[in-house]
Amino acid sequence: MAALQTAALLLLLLLAVASEAAEPPQQERTALQEFLLGTPHERSLGWNSPLAPSACLWFGVTCDAANATVVAVRLPGVGLVGDFPAGTLGKLTSLHTLSLRSNRLFGAVPGDIFSLPNLHSLYLQNNRLSGSIPPELAGLTALRHLALYDNELSGEIPAALDGLAQLRSVRLDGNRLSGSIPSLSGLRRLEVFNVSENQLDGAIPTFLARFPPESFAGNPGLCGEPLNSPCPVSSGKKKGLSGAAIAAIAVGAAAAALLALVLLVLCFCRRRRDAAATGDNSGNKAMSTPTQERGFTPSPVSGEMTDLADLTSSKDLVPSAGETTTRRLVFVGGAGAGGYSFDLEDLLRASAEVLGKGGAGTTYRAVLEDGATVVVKRLKDVVAARREFASALEALGRVEHRNLLPVRAYYFSKDEKLLVADYLPAGSLAAALHGSRGSGQTPMDWDARARAALCAARGMAHLHAAHGLVHGDVKSSNLLLRHGGDPDNAAALSDYSLQHLFAPLPPSARAGGYHAPELVDRRRPTFSSDVYSLGVLFLEMLTGKCPASGTAGVDGGGAALDLPRWVQSVVREEWTAEVFDQELVRLGGGAEEEMVALLQVAMACAGTSPDARPEATEVLKRVEEIGGGRHGRATAEEEGSWGTPTGASP
Ligand SMILES: *[C@@H]1O[C@H](CO)[C@@H](O)[C@H](O)[C@H]1NC(C)=O
Ligand SMILES: *[C@@H]1O[C@H](CO)[C@@H](O)[C@H](O)[C@H]1NC(C)=O
Repeated sequence: MAALQTAALLLLLLLAVASEAAEPPQQERTALQEFLLGTPHERSLGWNSPLAPSACLWFGVTCDAANATVVAVRLPGVGLVGDFPAGTLGKLTSLHTLSLRSNRLFGAVPGDIFSLPNLHSLYLQNNRLSGSIPPELAGLTALRHLALYDNELSGEIPAALDGLAQLRSVRLDGNRLSGSIPSLSGLRRLEVFNVSENQLDGAIPTFLARFPPESFAGNPGLCGEPLNSPCPVSSGKKKGLSGAAIAAIAVGAAAAALLALVLLVLCFCRRRRDAAATGDNSGNKAMSTPTQERGFTPSPVSGEMTDLADLTSSKDLVPSAGETTTRRLVFVGGAGAGGYSFDLEDLLRASAEVLGKGGAGTTYRAVLEDGATVVVKRLKDVVAARREFASALEALGRVEHRNLLPVRAYYFSKDEKLLVADYLPAGSLAAALHGSRGSGQTPMDWDARARAALCAARGMAHLHAAHGLVHGDVKSSNLLLRHGGDPDNAAALSDYSLQHLFAPLPPSARAGGYHAPELVDRRRPTFSSDVYSLGVLFLEMLTGKCPASGTAGVDGGGAALDLPRWVQSVVREEWTAEVFDQELVRLGGGAEEEMVALLQVAMACAGTSPDARPEATEVLKRVEEIGGGRHGRATAEEEGSWGTPTGASP
């Protein structure tokens, strides 16, 4: 009895301790709320919701493992508008990550943000912040990632930056910074540095000469390596048309070439589409467009809704009166749902641009009036009833993983089915692998491909294991890339778990190169058919060949390429090296072992027997092992390692 009482008492004590620890101090709560009070935002973040009594549960707020203090605030693109209030977030002294990027914050960054001793990541890019970067910056001794790009910051780059020895990335591009660049020779760990598109002048410090010219372009006054404009011997200043300007022109020319290529591909698609409309479904699909294996023909533009593609910023579509109540966009997902705040009318008013057309419909990029950019998919051939559609989308809304592109909202009516998802500007793996060929663009290097492979494996493993969902349409145009920074964030799978909503494919439809041979009804993909497709995707990265379009790329008229069989035949003849993308071989990098290892994983995935294929989690494990310590380290660091001392670096 006594023992029991003691146990009960202990339990009570434990509970008391736990509930005490389960909430950050009131002052942190207040600091968070005061920050929001000072910055009006378009969408409620629910920070006062009784459903989330603990600040640790608030949207965008992360606490340490004991829930005792706030360690991260991430509110990217939630429509925050106004001055960045001082004396608010600066009080969160345990903060290691602060991301307020892609909002509309004005004014100067308050000095107290620059004195957060534990901060290792500061992401304030894509705002309208002005003023100068204060010398107090010296207080950010733990800082590893500094992103202030695309703001309106002026003044000089403070020399104090040189003292932040942990810095890995510094992005200050797209501001109005002037003066010369400080030496920064103390930043021994620096991997990313970009000050392009400012008004800097003088000689580039020798320590920074190892960064590419694009890191300095758009500063007519800069001279020295790596720019093509030697500094005058007598002074640090320079004259005439600078190398930076030349570099900028070169970059511009390359961009123009790329644009031309994109236009060409788009034209090609249009022709294809037209061909499809006249009943010719046998055509092969272009590499950078989704497959047409659904054999869809473009449906006539319905009366209810103007084709988003015809919407330009100059042409507004106003719904007829009385319709508004039924024309509702349904947001899915947890609190915040990405922080978007728009309705169907906003969407229809947005300026839109066709990104691609494929079996599932047409994809647009829509820029809303508040500057937010989203992807809108107009689905074709949906047979699911409203209820089935809604419950499928609700399930997708629950998927939260950085390697899976979140679906944010949908619209369902008799004539139109729309999906809204995040927009990733870097484009798809298909475009990166095949789009740049021969255009003078740098081909994707091995590191980038290995990162994308790992992200794809992570995304699929999560979808299978955590949600019991099958992707059903893994291909390179459905792996979207993110540039810069976090390697674990390098790519995300899109367009997952939608197959069952569509009408059955006509029997004449050819199977794309990604589909497992046993898959008869492509609306009923399985975990193992997903793994097959993932294997083909890996092979595509390794070989540079496009399974969807035959061997000849855009002009390919033949059947889809069976990559696994092709690789097998080449390897059987002991020409393993011949399998790999010549661009990869040319770039070198001593990664042959990793390439061979991924080839083995890929071939195991793409085996003909479904039962012999590994499960997605097993695939992930094997891909993770290939990268060895490289990927592991990045994970621990970039996760923000909840609860570990943030000052400690690997
Ligand atoms: C912290 O809060 C989360 C969410 O409420 C909860 O799941 C977790 O158990 C808490 N941890 C501790 C140590 O209280
Ligand atoms: C630096 O930023 C500019 C514009 O933001 C971009 O065009 C350029 O590619 C970047 N440089 C590097 C090396 O990433």
